[in-house]
Amino acid sequence: MGSNDIPTLSGGFAPITDEIVTDDLVIEGEVPHDLSGLYVRNGPNRRFEAPGRYHWFDGDGMLHAVRFDRGRVQYRNRWVMTDGLTDELAAGQALWQGIKDPPRRDRPDQPVKNTSNTDIKFWNGDLVSMWYLGGAVYRCSPDDLSTRGQLALDPRLKGLPISAHSKVDEQTGEFLFFAYGKEPPYMQYGVLGRLGELKTFIDVPLPGPRLPHDMAVTTNYTVLHDLPLFYDMDAFAAGRHKLKFYPELPSRFGVVPRHGSTAQIRWFEASPTYMYHVSNAWEEDDGRGGVEIVMTGTPFRLPRDARGALEPARLPQMLAQLETDHVFMEWRFNLRTGQTRERLLDDISNTEFPAINSWLMGRKTRYSWNVLMGRSNAAEDPRFCGLARHDLLRGTCQTYHEGPNRWWSEAPFAPRDGWQEEDDGYLVNFVWDGDEQKSKVYVFDAKDVSKGPVCRITLPQRVPNGFHATWVSGERLARGW
Ligand SMILES: [Fe+2]
Repeated sequence: MGSNDIPTLSGGFAPITDEIVTDDLVIEGEVPHDLSGLYVRNGPNRRFEAPGRYHWFDGDGMLHAVRFDRGRVQYRNRWVMTDGLTDELAAGQALWQGIKDPPRRDRPDQPVKNTSNTDIKFWNGDLVSMWYLGGAVYRCSPDDLSTRGQLALDPRLKGLPISAHSKVDEQTGEFLFFAYGKEPPYMQYGVLGRLGELKTFIDVPLPGPRLPHDMAVTTNYTVLHDLPLFYDMDAFAAGRHKLKFYPELPSRFGVVPRHGSTAQIRWFEASPTYMYHVSNAWEEDDGRGGVEIVMTGTPFRLPRDARGALEPARLPQMLAQLETDHVFMEWRFNLRTGQTRERLLDDISNTEFPAINSWLMGRKTRYSWNVLMGRSNAAEDPRFCGLARHDLLRGTCQTYHEGPNRWWSEAPFAPRDGWQEEDDGYLVNFVWDGDEQKSKVYVFDAKDVSKGPVCRITLPQRVPNGFHATWVSGERLARGW
């Protein structure tokens, strides 16, 4: 099978070869003059073709950044110079195969290449790039995207497989992370302070190896995920990594004080599900003197047959095939009663990659701006089709798309300079325009996505379709954390 036959190596997904910086951009509409900061998106961009079967998650991480400064715009892109990519550049060829093929047995430190292609945050003066399977975190310069090295962690954390979805609390400057692996205790959780000091690091013992993707953070608590989609344990015992959904097991959510201990973790059970991304979490008074932890997120809609019976074997297939069918859910973990309540917020709009006003992470928020997802037309052909603005107070959802030939990226909320209200700002993202065969930056008014973008900025090169993005305000860049 050639590259052109694989959707995730073709069209808007195909890797690019050049690293450029340019302010020679074609602008339609007006770039807001009250928007200062940096939009950065991570994603896979394979440098060397490897033997074996490519999966979208295999490509080497590349950062694409757009800097906004009082109406001026500059675009730049650069690979994350991971240890794996550095070794491959020295060898002049691929040294690892992808996740569909066997891992390297001669590299127990890195059986699968840490491509650092998944998420990007700003912390302690650096852009920090992370990988979904868990590994070293790379620090990159917010000025020119050059890789500065691995996150200098406390020696106790050396070799720790840190997941992609570490969280930065912008109000305290803390970096909250979890790591997961195939050996007991299977999960660990920690918090680094604003200056890099390790404030908390605890074991989170699980019943076995799990595949958590995200966690949730409130002002005082962290919520860790143990979901019933993990390895087929018979295959696992034989050394194979086949995924299985266990609908007879509950979802479990571990609530722990932010700086708590292993003994303080309280597990809450909920319906079996699998989710990648949390939108937000916060604490509420339960009306009886207790605290309720509220968490929102976008789990998969569980696959059912024509008669409505659950088809558990299809869920891992959906993940493997990059099918996107999601609902928006709320969970409530009552610390007084130990009970969980859960409810659907929206099973009509199919949305994922939720973004909030990140200054308010951990506090009650009303809005979530998600990517509108589409059903795939082929195997491994994920479709990110537009934008959605969920209003959790009203229970409404506003969407915008421009038809089937656009591919959108996660659209972080970018606060207007001097913002006051939660939604006082913009949404910034990349859109691949399949009709014009061009990549563009779209900027939306976050209060009303249905109006369409306030400006479209055409880039001189394609931004391959990718994963997570972040917004770093000019204020945070100047402050350094
Ligand atoms: Fe993710």
